[in-house]
Amino acid sequence: MAPRWSPDSWRTKPIEQAPIYPDLDQLAQVEEQIASFPPLVFAGEARELKAKLARVAQGEAFLLQGGDCAESFAEHGADTIRDFFRVFLQMAVVLTYAGGSPVVKIGRIAGQFAKPRSAPTETKDGVELPSYRGDIINGIEFDEAVRTPDPQRILMGYRQAAATLNLLRAFSQGGYADLDHVHQWNLGFVKDSPAGHRYQELSDHIAETLRFMRAIGLTAENAPQLRSTSLYTSHEALLLGYEQALTRVDSTSGEWYATSGHFLWAGNRTRQLDHAHFNYLRGIKNPIGVKCGPSLKPDELLEMIDLLSPDNEPGRLTLICRFGAEEVGKHLPALIRAAEREGKSVVWTCDPMHGNTIKAGSGYKTRPFDLIMSEVESFFDIHRSEGTHAGGLHVEMTGQNVTECVGGAKAVTETDLSARYHTHCDPRLNADQSIELAFIVAERLKRDREGRPEPEISIAAGE
Ligand code: PEP
Ligand code: CO
Repeated sequence: MAPRWSPDSWRTKPIEQAPIYPDLDQLAQVEEQIASFPPLVFAGEARELKAKLARVAQGEAFLLQGGDCAESFAEHGADTIRDFFRVFLQMAVVLTYAGGSPVVKIGRIAGQFAKPRSAPTETKDGVELPSYRGDIINGIEFDEAVRTPDPQRILMGYRQAAATLNLLRAFSQGGYADLDHVHQWNLGFVKDSPAGHRYQELSDHIAETLRFMRAIGLTAENAPQLRSTSLYTSHEALLLGYEQALTRVDSTSGEWYATSGHFLWAGNRTRQLDHAHFNYLRGIKNPIGVKCGPSLKPDELLEMIDLLSPDNEPGRLTLICRFGAEEVGKHLPALIRAAEREGKSVVWTCDPMHGNTIKAGSGYKTRPFDLIMSEVESFFDIHRSEGTHAGGLHVEMTGQNVTECVGGAKAVTETDLSARYHTHCDPRLNADQSIELAFIVAERLKRDREGRPEPEISIAAGE
């Protein structure tokens, strides 16, 4: 029997990645204030998402999760949110069409502010300052005052999350998600892609299907499915004081729910079984995720599943695998086999970003598009040979035309990186690269659905 849990139980546990606030009274005051604020999401929505994820766990749907590595206060504009929404929806539409099954959409958005770091401090020209930990904790500028964790930022984070969510709800329900608009594709990359004609064909098929539906009388006016969509929110549950303040009892079920977002996950650096972050996640009823990197052993995975999903409820737990293109083959099969042997129900999803980060000659952190695609392809291959469901994708992306990841059909080169390198943390796929990835995965889903073999020449490597 697990010990009694309350939203503050994590405070007595060892904790990783916790910022050091100089003014604890001010922090406590801010947390108290947040605790009095309205919830950002409702328990009923989190339950609905869990039910959809259960379908993913059972192999009947696909999960698309994506967004910024770190949302920033400076880039909080309607255009950024709209462009993300549009590209993300386009990715979902092409995956739905090709996969022939529902796509569950979860943004890394409206709360993705706090970042784990590999070192607590950063040194420049002999000056050592706290590392940047995300806008909800401190600022990115290399300045002592800015880098000092400031509780007031938590209030700004809450308000930005609320405003972002408000716009997303309007986009989702207010007509912007109208399929006829969404499929006005951002197909700029097609003409540069060796597989471009196939992507064009797929896009034409979708347009044709929409025309057919209109012809038989199915329009946005009479079929709400064509007009509105559900986009859920997610972020890493890193800053536990903030999460605690937004953890509320659901009046319908009497259970605790995180209301800072629909889906929360623990990062690869904060997944110690007996530490604070798992303690927190264990007690909330939302669907949750864990980032799984190369150090995760099969036995530990099983203990983790027992702790976080003791009822083995489908949809409760998503394993976000981020091994790297080189490592995925070494680690993933043993984890899948352990979970299968014990009859565990989980969603397996592939984060092809965090294991494929390299430093370019110019000093920029980047991720080569080919490596990203190679990890995705291996993920699908492995699940196919294990007989399990490759449940989804987890990507860092933006709707903007940034130059942060190298490669793609409209190739970003190492020398391009400095042109529009805007990320506050890790390099993201830009709009073209995101859509290209969705088209490649869509072809894969279609092939697997139809039981066809791979084409002679790998698409990821170019034709
Ligand atoms: C992230 O998702 O931005 C992240 C830090 O990932 P991970 O915990 O897998 O390193
Ligand atoms: Co990241």
